[in-house]
Amino acid sequence: MTFVVTDNCILCKYTDCVEVCPVDCFYEGPNFLVIDPDECIDCALCEPECPAEAIFEEDDLPDGQEGFIALNAELAQKWDNITEMKDPMPEAKKWDGVKNKLDKLER
Ligand code: SF4
Ligand code: F3S
Repeated sequence: MTFVVTDNCILCKYTDCVEVCPVDCFYEGPNFLVIDPDECIDCALCEPECPAEAIFEEDDLPDGQEGFIALNAELAQKWDNITEMKDPMPEAKKWDGVKNKLDKLER
């Protein structure tokens, strides 16, 4: 079991989540974060920390977000580890809550 970062993180990237992860399993891209499913210990600490409510357990994903399971696994292998909070994306407030941002994902 793992937790998964979903669509609403894109272009927001608040990074509150990384501060609480006991196993440092978040990986950072240009405008999105992912969780490495092989490292996540399913502790659930990150889920309530995300201001964008973008983190879900893989068995509890909102409809239409299932593709993010594979996307987290794939991008965690490509991107660099992030363990400290940083400033959110400059237009995070504007993009928070906008649906279907996957076409804006930068790899
Ligand atoms: Fe890290 Fe726990 Fe969140 Fe998994 S559920 S990403 S181990 S904080
Ligand atoms: Fe993204 Fe939420 Fe973390 S917006 S960077 S999953 S705090």
